[in-house]
Amino acid sequence: MKRGLCPGTFDPLTSGHLDIIERAAGILDDLVVGVALSPDKGGGPLFSAAERVSFVEEATKHLTNVTVRPFDTLLVDFAHEIEATVIIKGLRAVTDFEREFQMAQLNYRLDRKIETMFIMAIPDYMYLSSSAVKEIARHGGSVKGLVPDVVHDALRQRLARSH
Ligand code: PNS
Repeated sequence: MKRGLCPGTFDPLTSGHLDIIERAAGILDDLVVGVALSPDKGGGPLFSAAERVSFVEEATKHLTNVTVRPFDTLLVDFAHEIEATVIIKGLRAVTDFEREFQMAQLNYRLDRKIETMFIMAIPDYMYLSSSAVKEIARHGGSVKGLVPDVVHDALRQRLARSH
């Protein structure tokens, strides 16, 4: 059985993430979406870990071979814990390449038995990111279609509260 691990901060989950998860779930027997509790990026996340996990759970409930798990360790250690042998990442424009290449190299160095594989974003989502979604939403723009409905509603509520 081939189990994959699709990791990310998912702050919040976008339609681009969901597309990669759906496509990965179609290739692998089993896919775990790993939600990083403390993102390595600057600034705190907009949504709590529990919220980020629940968005992914809600948006992937139609996928029977997908489960969602939070993690707060090295990615390769988490992959070991859940017995995943392949890390799945989405790749958008060339700008993603350097960071993803670095992470894949380091993860390979940490554990050579775990392979990283990339799924290319479709053109619709090539320039979509969680940060862009938050920026658009913060300024009152519509993010309909850019995020799953559950995230759309949560963004509206969160930003209405902060205004
Ligand atoms: O959503 P992101 O920012 O692309 O996700 C990045 C993530 C969570 C996959 C990455 O930061 C990560 O793997 N964090 C766990 C800590 C770790 O293993 N770091 C070493 C990898 S270079």
